[in-house]
Amino acid sequence: MIRQNFSTLLVNSVMRYATEKYLHLQLSECTTLPKPNPKKVQDKSYLLYMHIPFCATLCTYCSFNRFLFQEDKAKLYFENLRKEMQMVKNLGYDFSEVYVGGGTTSIMPDELCKTLDLAKSLFSIQQVSCESDPNHLQREVLEQFKGRIDRLSVGVQSFDDGILKKIGRYEKFGSGEETYKKLEAAIGILPILNVDLIFNFPNQTQEMLAKDLEIIRSLKPNQLTTYPLMSSPSVKSLIKRSIGEVDLQNEARLYAQILETLSSDFIPLSSWAFSHKGSEIFDEYVVNNDEYVGIGSGSFSFIGGTLYVNTFSLKTYAQRIQSGKMGVVRERKYSKKAQLQYRLMVELFGGEANIERFWTLYGVNLEKALFKEITFLCLSGNIFKKNNAYYPTQKGKYLFLSMMKEFYIGMDRVREESRAMLKEEDM
Ligand SMILES: C[S@@+](CC[C@H](N)C(=O)[O-])C[C@H]1O[C@@H](n2cnc3c(N)ncnc32)[C@H](O)[C@@H]1O
Ligand code: SF4
Repeated sequence: MIRQNFSTLLVNSVMRYATEKYLHLQLSECTTLPKPNPKKVQDKSYLLYMHIPFCATLCTYCSFNRFLFQEDKAKLYFENLRKEMQMVKNLGYDFSEVYVGGGTTSIMPDELCKTLDLAKSLFSIQQVSCESDPNHLQREVLEQFKGRIDRLSVGVQSFDDGILKKIGRYEKFGSGEETYKKLEAAIGILPILNVDLIFNFPNQTQEMLAKDLEIIRSLKPNQLTTYPLMSSPSVKSLIKRSIGEVDLQNEARLYAQILETLSSDFIPLSSWAFSHKGSEIFDEYVVNNDEYVGIGSGSFSFIGGTLYVNTFSLKTYAQRIQSGKMGVVRERKYSKKAQLQYRLMVELFGGEANIERFWTLYGVNLEKALFKEITFLCLSGNIFKKNNAYYPTQKGKYLFLSMMKEFYIGMDRVREESRAMLKEEDM
């Protein structure tokens, strides 16, 4: 049964401790990222992440790195992003996948297309994923994205007008019904359309969630991502004031309802992502790429056991790029053990920790290297072994969802630390 119990509480406090300890980053002296590992370049196993930190309006609950859109700043930003991409090319990297995250990546469609075209000319890109919102689904925009974007992820959050009003999205993006119509017209234009929903808004009942899920079942998007509301430090008090207090028991109940309702029409891709049974599978990038290169303000890179974070200041970002430096300003090197623990969490979040894969990627015997972790997870009923791999139980799926949530909240702490130092002219 899925509920907040001893193991979820224990693991979440361990996660909180670990993210506080491990996501404490030092200032970096680097002017550039390190060169790639040639074997990984050959295998195309790095992912390219690009960040577009602009939105037309800012949502109160959102803890992602974003600034209010200003055309001149955004245009300059895209130019610098392309310069940083060229620096990555000069270091010798190659990629088959690019993930463009935001903000609202499609806020300047022409600039986005120009940047994606450059990525395709520099690297062996085969899959492009971008995040967008319901206001950027016009047919002409999607036609422009055809052949350039394979997966477009649209933030919907809920179709419930009461919730949309409380989170300030009703006025910005329209009612649930209007959003449904925009999505209905958009599905099928690009290969994959993903819808993001958030669950466990304060006072969200099972009936309210049931309506959201029914709408999704009739809409049939290719993919659905259901995030639990993350009350990160930067947005905690705003969420409390505008919507109310987050209830974790309700989170567990609503998550069980999601798994149950979606099981007939969707295949799980991870604890929170689902692919519609009739659609092509598009892998979860967080799960499949253990090393990634991030470009743009506030992006993260993980290379050779070190996490690098780019500056969150738009002004510093522009200055660094103009002077031939990359955006990285902070870093942290991790022990092999810490890397393995992180990978175990991510792989189980993705539905499977494979013993052979661990051997191939990290040269370790998973069961020996993480004996204590595996034993605890098995004894507490969160994972089970079948053939050569470990899989989460239903209860385990919830555990890995809440661990990933804690990890995102930890990342938000890094953002908060960095953004707290920003002055008016940095934004
Ligand atoms: C970076 S946003 C980009 C989406 C797009 N800008 C929009 O709002 O339509 C990606 C997704 O993160 C999720 N998200 C943002 N803040 C969140 C929070 N505090 N808790 C849970 N999910 C959140 C939302 O589902 C959102 O669609
Ligand atoms: S949810 Fe989307 S539109 Fe709202 S602030 Fe976050 S990134 Fe921007």
